[in-house]
Amino acid sequence: MLEVKNVSKTFNTASGPVHALKDITFKVNTGEFVSIVGKSGSGKSTLLSILGALDTPTDGSITVDDTAIEKLSGHQQTKYRGKKIGFVFQQYNLIPNLTALENVVLALEFGGYPATSRVDRAVKLLESVGIEEDQQHRRPTRLSGGQQQRVSIARALANEPAFILADEPTGNLDSATGKKIFDLLHDLSRNQNTTIVVVTHDLDIAGKTDRTFTIVDGKITTK
Ligand SMILES: Nc1ncnc2c1ncn2[C@@H]1O[C@H](COP(=O)(O)OP(=O)(O)OP(=O)(O)O)[C@@H](O)[C@H]1O
Ligand SMILES: [Mg+2]
Repeated sequence: MLEVKNVSKTFNTASGPVHALKDITFKVNTGEFVSIVGKSGSGKSTLLSILGALDTPTDGSITVDDTAIEKLSGHQQTKYRGKKIGFVFQQYNLIPNLTALENVVLALEFGGYPATSRVDRAVKLLESVGIEEDQQHRRPTRLSGGQQQRVSIARALANEPAFILADEPTGNLDSATGKKIFDLLHDLSRNQNTTIVVVTHDLDIAGKTDRTFTIVDGKITTK
């Protein structure tokens, strides 16, 4: 269970405060697949970063299975992310000097996966998102945007996270590949009880998730 209570986030900028999130409250049940939609700049990525303990709220609390994550120490938050969360970044954030395969292997290493089977598992994960063998051995700059996006999804799935937080995971994919990724996520929520929160502009995808939240100007308007 993921519980967001009265969360606000204000960024202080040279031209004054930006109220990116305003008093957001919602719950996501274990194994639920929810989507977040909203215009550019409405606060979607900010919310996802806070759920993933990549950023802290200015106000309010995020409780994950009875742990208030904003109260954890930096070290504990790192552990929380590594163990529980698979994060798909809007800009992928792959490590540029590692190949696709090495990016996924590194995630498995961080997750404490046994050294002898890391490469096998990484290959399987990459195959599951349609990254072929010759692509697995290329660095991110030698892959298309959609291929990088799929590598970042494979990396997020590496350690069988309890939560997948994905920022526009199909934003750079054609509709057939996007559907394949959606089906993969859907399958994880149904069969592994993985809790999934996706930010998407694709209303087709949003319509197929269990619930859709709409953010307008930092506020949740539908639940
Ligand atoms: N580090 C930051 N410093 C200052 N303002 C920020 C920062 N990060 C985000 N913002 C502002 O907060 C608001 C929400 O940004 P956010 O990135 O969450 O939007 P978004 O809904 O993800 O948009 P998009 O669909 O374009 O990705 C925007 O007004 C943005 O300019
Ligand atoms: Mg965003």
